[in-house]
Amino acid sequence: MSEGWLGRDVISILDFDREDLEVLFEEADRMKSLLANGSVPKTLSGRIVALAFFEPSTRTRMSFEAAAKRLGAETIGFTSEEGISVAKGESLADTVRMLDSYADLIVLRHRYEGSALYAAEIAVHPVINGGDGRQHHPTQAMLDLYTVREAHGVIDGLTYGVLGDLRYGRAATSFILSLGLFKPRRVYLIAPPSLEPRAEVMMLIERLGIPAVKARLEDVIGELDVLYVTRIQRERFPDPEEYERVRGAYRVTPSTLEGAKRDLIVMHPLPRVDEIDPRVDSTPHAWYFRQARNGVPVRMALLNLVMGGGAS
Ligand code: NCD
Repeated sequence: MSEGWLGRDVISILDFDREDLEVLFEEADRMKSLLANGSVPKTLSGRIVALAFFEPSTRTRMSFEAAAKRLGAETIGFTSEEGISVAKGESLADTVRMLDSYADLIVLRHRYEGSALYAAEIAVHPVINGGDGRQHHPTQAMLDLYTVREAHGVIDGLTYGVLGDLRYGRAATSFILSLGLFKPRRVYLIAPPSLEPRAEVMMLIERLGIPAVKARLEDVIGELDVLYVTRIQRERFPDPEEYERVRGAYRVTPSTLEGAKRDLIVMHPLPRVDEIDPRVDSTPHAWYFRQARNGVPVRMALLNLVMGGGAS
């Protein structure tokens, strides 16, 4: 039974169930058509959303900002530690206390795992995790699933390949775990040996009953309905030499996709570095820019549900 969305923190995709996500997706569909008609009601007028981004971000921050503004809310926030008092030695806890007193909801991105959960324990207002280190990126998983549903009409029964840095990538990890809320036919984990999922993630995959197996892209490309590609998370490598050894280890090109199903969709949370050849962009398989655009209606839906914006 769904707990409902009002006032809820959004820390991990696994805090939610399928019913919660179905409610979110229907709300996102509604937001999408309101956006298309230019008739979005200002349901969050007079409310303030704090965007606390301690780590770089383009899409997550700007789509949250666009989402809040479309619904009539104001935003405050920062995009790095340099401009705020953390540079003077202020703790995360004190920063969160301040934001909590200035705003009605906090979106937090931070390099430390567990930072969003920690902030949620301190803040009275809801906290949304915009990415905590290599751990969770729940709102990315929400818009990813929404994009799969848009492309294929379903999330269940499909064959997924997740390619890239499954060790340090929070978007890839959250996406894989999110499939545990649905019934995928198969999930292929396609990573260079040093970038395979961490033991604790493999244990969760097993516990959730996700039908995941390790594979090589060339062996499974013809079976896939979704190929989710991710960048190697250079900034999270403890040893730069380890990064040098795997950089450029995989790249999706038009010839990689030659044996693919006609309706295979290629997804990527972006930013991409060199793992998808730009020549793929003009093929019907390329869904990553549409995926990024879905960030706005999905985050509008999320803000509206959590902040109790209502229907009009
Ligand atoms: C991802 C992130 O920050 O985890 N980007 C995003 O939010 N769209 C993926 C990445 O940085 O590779």
